[in-house]
Amino acid sequence: MRILLYSGKGGVGKTSIAAATGVQLARAGLKTLVMSVDPAHSLADAFALKAGLFDSATADPCQVREHLHVQEVNIQIELKRHWREIAGYLTTVLRTSGLGDVEAEELAILPGMEELSALMYVNQYRKQDTYDVIVLDCAPTAESLRFIAMPTTLEWYMKHVFPMERRVFNAVRPLVNRVSPVELPSDSYFANVKDLFTKLDGIDGILQDTRVTSVRLVSNAERMVLRETQRAFVYFLLHGLSVDRIIVNRVLPDEAVGSFLGGLRGTQQQILQEMHAYFDPVPVRQVPMFQEEVIGMERLERLADVLQAIDPDPCAVTREERPYAFERRDGVHQVRVAMPFAAKGEVGLFKKGDELVIEIGVLRRHVGLPRSIAALQPRRATFEGTTLVVELGEAS
Ligand SMILES: Nc1ncnc2c1ncn2[C@@H]1O[C@H](COP(=O)(O)OP(=O)(O)OP(=O)(O)O)[C@@H](O)[C@H]1O
Ligand SMILES: [Mg+2]
Repeated sequence: MRILLYSGKGGVGKTSIAAATGVQLARAGLKTLVMSVDPAHSLADAFALKAGLFDSATADPCQVREHLHVQEVNIQIELKRHWREIAGYLTTVLRTSGLGDVEAEELAILPGMEELSALMYVNQYRKQDTYDVIVLDCAPTAESLRFIAMPTTLEWYMKHVFPMERRVFNAVRPLVNRVSPVELPSDSYFANVKDLFTKLDGIDGILQDTRVTSVRLVSNAERMVLRETQRAFVYFLLHGLSVDRIIVNRVLPDEAVGSFLGGLRGTQQQILQEMHAYFDPVPVRQVPMFQEEVIGMERLERLADVLQAIDPDPCAVTREERPYAFERRDGVHQVRVAMPFAAKGEVGLFKKGDELVIEIGVLRRHVGLPRSIAALQPRRATFEGTTLVVELGEAS
C-alpha cells in the first residue's frame, strides 16, 4: 500500500489536488481512498457530495466512483470509538474544576485526537490491505507537522511518562480519592491508552518508510507561500519523511496578458525559477489556474487530466535515501541529517537520555541513538553541503 500525503500552506489547493489525484489513481484501476486529516473538512465539498452521503453513524469510507472512496474522520464518532474512557475522564476532571457540562465535553477533545484517529485508520487499512493507495488531504502545514510528529511524541510519552504516571497513580489512589474531589484515572483509562497505542503500533515506521509514504507539498507561485513550503520541506525531512514532489498550483497560463495579468504572470514565472533552483533535485510541477473553482466530479476529472500530463504515475517511488544516518569517520561518530535550506544558526542540539534532539524553529526531532553511541555527547555540528553532520564524543 502507498500513502501519499498532501500538505502545504492554507488555501493553496491541497484538497483539490488530493481529490483529483484520487480520481487519477482510480482511473488507473487502483483501489484508492482519499482521507481528510484536516479537522476543517472540505473533501465532501470538493466532490460536491450531497449532505448525508457520508454515513453519519459510522463515518466509514464512502464510494464516489469506481475504485474511489472518500473518508472524513469525524471527531464525535471517534470520541465514542477510540477515546471513550480518556475523554470521559477528562470531562469529569474539567467538570469538577467548575466548568459546565457542554464546555467540559468540548474541552475534553484534545488537540491531536483527530489526527491520531486518522492514523489509526491508516494503520488498520494497511494491516488489512484494504486499499492500494491512501491519499491524505492534510490540514495546513503547522497542523500536519503535528500530525506526522504524533507517533514519535506518543511513543516518547508511552516510554517515559506513562509507566511512571501509572505507578504513581496506583500508589496514591487510595489516599487521594478520599481527600480530593478529583477522581484519579481508573484502570479502564489506562486500558484505553494502551489500546490506542496498540492500534498505532508501527505507524511511525510506515510514515518514515520512503517506499510507502511520500509527501507532496502543494504551493503557489508567491513568495510567502514559497517560504512556508521551504520550511515545511525541512520539517518533514527532520521528521524522517521524504518529500518527493512540489506541486505549484494556480499558475497563470500563457494567455494571461495585459499590464495587470501579464505583470502577475511575470512575477509568478520568476518565483517558479527560484523554486526549481531551491528544490532541485526534487521535481517542481505546475498546475494552471482554472477559470472556476475545482468543485464537483467533472472539474476534478479535468484537474486529474492535468495531473496525468505532469505526473503519469503518482505512486512511483522516486526517492529512497534515508533522512538521517549514523556513521563513523576517522574514529569520530557522526549523525548525518539531510537538511536543505536550514541555516546553521537556526539549528539547536542537545542530548536527552539516549536521544539526540535537533531543533529547528519551534519544532524538534528526537533522533534515537543506537546503544553503542547513546552515551556520547554532541560535540559540534557542521554543514557538508545540505547535510548537517553532528559529531559525537565522550562526555568530558
Ligand atoms: N488550479 C486551480 N484553479 C482554480 N481554482 C482552484 C485551483 N485549485 C484550487 N482551487 C480552488 O481554490 C479554493 C481552495 O482550494 P482547496 O480547498 O483545495 O485548498 P486547500 O489548500 O485544501 O485549503 P485549506 O488550507 O483550507 O484546506 C477552492 O475553492 C478550490 O476549488
Ligand atoms: Mg483543504
